[in-house]
Amino acid sequence: MRVRRNRTGWQTNWYEADMRILITGGNGQLGNEWVYFLNKQAVEFISLPSSDFDLTNHQDVRRVMKNLSPDLIINCAAYTKVDQAEEEREKAFAVNADGVKNLSDFCAEQKIKLVHFSTDYVFPGELVDREDHPEGYSEDHPTDPINVYGESKRAGEVALQESGCDHLLIRVSWLCGRFGNNFVKTMLRLGEEKDELKVVNDQFGSPTFTHNLVENVWQLIAQDKQGVFHLSSIGETTWYEFAKEIFAQSGIEVKVEPVDSSEFPTKARRPAFSLLSTQKIANIAGVSLINWKQGLEEMLAKLNE
Ligand SMILES: NC(=O)c1ccc[n+]([C@@H]2O[C@H](COP(=O)([O-])OP(=O)(O)OC[C@H]3O[C@@H](n4cnc5c(N)ncnc54)[C@H](OP(=O)(O)O)[C@@H]3O)[C@@H](O)[C@H]2O)c1
Repeated sequence: MRVRRNRTGWQTNWYEADMRILITGGNGQLGNEWVYFLNKQAVEFISLPSSDFDLTNHQDVRRVMKNLSPDLIINCAAYTKVDQAEEEREKAFAVNADGVKNLSDFCAEQKIKLVHFSTDYVFPGELVDREDHPEGYSEDHPTDPINVYGESKRAGEVALQESGCDHLLIRVSWLCGRFGNNFVKTMLRLGEEKDELKVVNDQFGSPTFTHNLVENVWQLIAQDKQGVFHLSSIGETTWYEFAKEIFAQSGIEVKVEPVDSSEFPTKARRPAFSLLSTQKIANIAGVSLINWKQGLEEMLAKLNE
């Protein structure tokens, strides 16, 4: 991949760039991490919030992309309200399925590479799968989402794959990073507010830390890899174990009680098993996966920067 650097490091003139990267959903948790990362790489990119680039507006998408003429699009835009999606099926599908179709059809037509993110929620998440696949779901495991958000994300995957565009489809789980809202930040807040907390201990998975995600996806982009990859941390945990580790590492004293999911009824069903196998991506040169406890340590350090 060609990136242009000048003497001052950061080159802002989009129209003179050799390689132009467009980040969509730039105000979200992952979009912000990409902005932070790409700024340090001194590459040319533009990041657009939903107010400037609405994936659901077919004409706008084409107009903006024609004007900008990017070589690579990193799509961080998504409808991510898992419970609300049960009541807003159309909205979830408009962004996660139709929006992705808009983007990927255009990318196929204009020969633009598209990096897209999806989720463990495309899988059934049954505990029996944990027994059969203790290493986690592999990239070719049959999908079968159990909630509307998962269905909409799966429909987006299909649209992307059917578009025929040059793409990377990265599935992640339990996304956490310094930007936006996530489990780690919620626990840090609750840990300061409360003396006791109940956290579910019957859902198994592994967090994907955004700082590690972007570094590794950058490797895939640089090597012009294609297709589906799973990316999360090494090792399995539960939300309860994860919460305990967050408090231990950040020195917050709070009593944490393990409970079943039935104590926290939600509108959307949650998968009991969310672990993604990282065997495929681990074999790519330059990719560096981290254990979830190490990932947490790094994330907490970044929050304190
Ligand atoms: N968060 C997780 O735990 C998790 C887990 C697995 C997979 N993922 C996937 O990882 C990716 C990144 O997630 P995230 O946590 O960074 O999500 P996020 O923080 O919710 O960010 C999503 C961004 O998409 C934007 N957006 C929403 N609708 C849009 C539209 N119609 N057009 C353009 N932009 C729109 C939002 O803009 P506004 O702020 O203006 O609404 C927001 O900035 C997503 O594909 C998500 O499905 C996330």
